[in-house]
Amino acid sequence: MQTQRRDFLQWVGWACAGLTDAAGAQEPYRLDEAARRCGRRFGFAVHPDYAGREPVKNLLLQHAGVITAENAMKWRSIEGVLGGRDYAQADAVAAMASELHALLRGHTLAWHQSTPRRLLDVPTDVFRREQSAHLSDLVLRYQGRIHTWDVLNEAIDADSGRSDGLRNSVLSKLWGEERYPALFEQARALDPQAKLAYNDYGMEQDEPWCERRRSAVLRLLEDWVKRKVPIDVMGLQAHLDLSRRFSGGRLSKFFDELKALGLGIQITELDVRDPAAGGDVATRDANVAALYRAFLDVCMGHSSVEMVVMWNVTDADTWVNRVFSGQRHADGHPMRPTLFDTRGQKKPAFHAVAASLHNASRSFNGSPIKNESSLCSPKS
Ligand code: XIL
Repeated sequence: MQTQRRDFLQWVGWACAGLTDAAGAQEPYRLDEAARRCGRRFGFAVHPDYAGREPVKNLLLQHAGVITAENAMKWRSIEGVLGGRDYAQADAVAAMASELHALLRGHTLAWHQSTPRRLLDVPTDVFRREQSAHLSDLVLRYQGRIHTWDVLNEAIDADSGRSDGLRNSVLSKLWGEERYPALFEQARALDPQAKLAYNDYGMEQDEPWCERRRSAVLRLLEDWVKRKVPIDVMGLQAHLDLSRRFSGGRLSKFFDELKALGLGIQITELDVRDPAAGGDVATRDANVAALYRAFLDVCMGHSSVEMVVMWNVTDADTWVNRVFSGQRHADGHPMRPTLFDTRGQKKPAFHAVAASLHNASRSFNGSPIKNESSLCSPKS
């Protein structure tokens, strides 16, 4: 009863805000357009086959102003046989960005999990040569077309036992954590137009381990900023989880801390999991939507947040049910972490995001973004 009443009130709220497009009564609400009205951009992680597949194709046409290749620009995806390179999938995503007139995020130049298997156990000089050549090929290939590169991904592990809070990985072992700044320097030299980001997860919610990760990343970034490492953006993956606490106040303070370092903030991989949730589908959808709303209200209330990118478009494509397929609800249902259901229909989460963007645009007093087309057109 309580839930039904809350759902009804929410619907009334959205309808009053002009967000309903039921029965074609109003223009469809476009998320990137709404984000532009408050000086931000909105988008999705994609697979190259989305370009020819409904309903994702049409949803991207309507809502995407930024796209990220979910996997296609990762080293392991590009690496062909015997260390050769195959950019077909990555090129297809770049072409999709041009067709959609969307900004393109580059993901990612260095990530321990995407290191080709043949390089997991080689001498450091071999690894360094290969990592450097890969980075340089990739950045040069898309030079002038990438809005932001995730230069380094997931280098923090606050529970690694190391005093610097860094992760022990193939990268720390063979590239060397003291050489992480060189990744940024190399990227800046090769594509001075692209913003450069450090990207990581587990810093958005209010659990003690998230706090440890926030402290570790702030220490790292503070050091880099002091040493004038060319970094512009902190990328927060934001794979949110309903079983963890969330505090808007704590997140907002973290945003202030990043801003004080002179960094922009991008939400790079947003979705909401609810592995431990009970109740029926409608209740779970409402709870997922409420966390989307609370999270985005903080993001939209902070001037440093530049863009929001969802990790996948619909519940049919979500990595959550591919990668965490063992992690289902007690009733056997897969999770519904995105804004659209498996048929591409809007869920309460869509309306929650739309309402947050809409509210933000009403109080926004900067200039709405009109056109960033120089980064959208194909290389001549
Ligand atoms: C994930 C993809 O979604 C999966 O398809 C792939 O199997 C593994 O990588 N953090 C990141 C992303 O930075 O690159 C990850 O993407 C999800 C977690």
